[in-house]
Amino acid sequence: MEENLLFLNANVRSVRRERFETKTSRGEIFMESNKLKDLLIEELQDLYSAENQLLKALPKMAKNATSPDLKHGFEKHLKETEGHVARLENIFEKLEAKARGPKCKAMEGLIEEGKEMIDDHDDPEELDAGLICAAQKVEHYEIASYGTVISWANTLELEDIANELEKTLEEEKATNEKLTELAEESINVEAAAGE
Ligand SMILES: [Fe+2]
Ligand SMILES: [Fe+2]
Repeated sequence: MEENLLFLNANVRSVRRERFETKTSRGEIFMESNKLKDLLIEELQDLYSAENQLLKALPKMAKNATSPDLKHGFEKHLKETEGHVARLENIFEKLEAKARGPKCKAMEGLIEEGKEMIDDHDDPEELDAGLICAAQKVEHYEIASYGTVISWANTLELEDIANELEKTLEEEKATNEKLTELAEESINVEAAAGE
């Protein structure tokens, strides 16, 4: 996926370079970067909605997890998610844009699937394995989204913003890796051993 993002980034850069080389109208170049900036703001608003939905969902996931390590993992990521929301708010201030946008439907669906997982599974090990599955889908959605906005911020030469978003991306990746570790080292094995 990172390769794809690098490719996308390189592609956007080459389009911009071409415009500098072939167009003399600075106005047109300015328009192009404004379009990407609008897209960046829209996608950041989508992420802001997604992160706020997660602030409500993560305590429920922590409450329903039976493995103490998994419970602790969700609680830790809840604290990090509060930081992700705060970082986005600072970025909106820098961009002089409003934070609120349409509800992120993708995150709404992923959270709904997590709820179904809780409602449909009583066996503790099975439930924990299912909660990890739901949580990793969420992390992958965030990783894809943050990867894209970082790429766009870099293209727009908004380095400070890209660096802030990079901090969040690293926490999403670490959470995803921790979930894989928990699943492979214990929870999946216990679920497989169940009746
Ligand atoms: Fe997040
Ligand atoms: Fe996350």
